[in-house]
Amino acid sequence: MFIFLVFTIIYISNGVKSSSLPPSITSPCDISEQACVNKISNILLPHIFNGIPDLEVPSIDPLHIDKIIGDISILKYMFFNSTLIGFSNCKVVNLRLDKEFTKLSYDLICPHFTMSGKYDVSGRLIVLPVEGNGDYNLDAGKYNISVESDLKTFKGKNEKIHALIKNFKLKCEALEPIRFDFKNMFNGQKDLSDIVHKFANENWREVVNLMQDPVFYAVMKRAVTNMNKFFKQVPLEKILII
Ligand SMILES: *[C@@H]1O[C@H](CO)[C@@H](O)[C@H](O)[C@H]1NC(C)=O
Ligand SMILES: *[C@@H]1O[C@H](CO)[C@@H](O)[C@H](O)[C@H]1NC(C)=O
Repeated sequence: MFIFLVFTIIYISNGVKSSSLPPSITSPCDISEQACVNKISNILLPHIFNGIPDLEVPSIDPLHIDKIIGDISILKYMFFNSTLIGFSNCKVVNLRLDKEFTKLSYDLICPHFTMSGKYDVSGRLIVLPVEGNGDYNLDAGKYNISVESDLKTFKGKNEKIHALIKNFKLKCEALEPIRFDFKNMFNGQKDLSDIVHKFANENWREVVNLMQDPVFYAVMKRAVTNMNKFFKQVPLEKILII
């Protein structure tokens, strides 16, 4: 009974099991030291994507997304049952955080990710009519996902201050070519499908500019949910001195 009490007291007073914080986070950063905050973000990011079971943060690399819907007047597309792999390898650069802890911006530089599942598309891909449904595979190189968020803090258990990411806005840019592979386009008419693939692979920049936003908003929604799960469990003072 006594031992149980002691453990309970240690657990409560500690607020968070120290084993759940990556060991390389030895001391919090001063909020005005952007380089330190950027460095801690890079220590945390792979854990946010790979999951932290102690803190009930699920793994989202690989990430399963049931449905991604794109609807831009000339082109309608849906990705079903998609699996995205590789976002735990992204790095945070250019992090900026205001001293009031209300605004955060950073660029995620992601070296490589893949996306696969089922698709359904119809409309016009810039100049070409496209039509089809079946399996798809996308193989992306380096990507820049620029993120802007509003932040707030709230008082959690034990009167500790916790962080919350309220929202996010993205500006995404492919820095390297993407390989497109959409099976069964035009009901399997290979010549038509080859024309679309050749066009998409040659004009990857325009094609991804047209189609990427719903994908990255879906990914970041899950990433921010994980970040907020982490912040809900870990008092801000473990990471930042405000
Ligand atoms: C997605 O996967 C689930 C379970 O594996 C399956 O029941 C469903 O039919 C799939 N949806 C599509 C569009 O393939
Ligand atoms: C990433 O995008 C942001 C916003 O557009 C830009 O400021 C930054 O220079 C870009 N970084 C790279 C490496 O392209």
